[in-house]
Amino acid sequence: MSTDAIVLLKEDHKTVEQLFKKFERTGDRAHATRRRLVESIIKELTTHAYIEEAIFYPEAREAVPQTEDHVLESVEEHHVVMWMLSELAKLEPTAENFEAKVTVLIENVRHHVEEEEQEWFPQVRKAMGRKRLQELGERMAAAKKDAPSDPLAVQSAHA
Ligand SMILES: [Fe+2]
Ligand SMILES: [Fe+2]
Repeated sequence: MSTDAIVLLKEDHKTVEQLFKKFERTGDRAHATRRRLVESIIKELTTHAYIEEAIFYPEAREAVPQTEDHVLESVEEHHVVMWMLSELAKLEPTAENFEAKVTVLIENVRHHVEEEEQEWFPQVRKAMGRKRLQELGERMAAAKKDAPSDPLAVQSAHA
């Protein structure tokens, strides 16, 4: 398994996208499956946002100061996503707004991931180089175990 920081983050994005696709394939009455998928989405996204905010964002901001606006916007996007996750953690799949909330969450995350991968990561890769990204990736992989389970415990939730 690669420990390159950007490869690691893209693998996380792929894992989350697979969960989104699975959710989109479920029917309105698949309550237990939907609940289970949303629990996995909460866990994956909370862990991912935690390692990005604790390690990747500050390092990348320092390495590519001209993308500072992008980082600040990304944190605001995380903020919205963490609050939506905290709401979904308490929402019954039978609630009339459950599917709508998941749909808007998915739209938000897809937009966020696209901006990270298309606009930002290439600049960070160029500025940091392979060795630094390897070291960063190792730290991020190790930090996953320290991630909170509560999305509101992620820093951006209260930024
Ligand atoms: Fe992010
Ligand atoms: Fe990300």
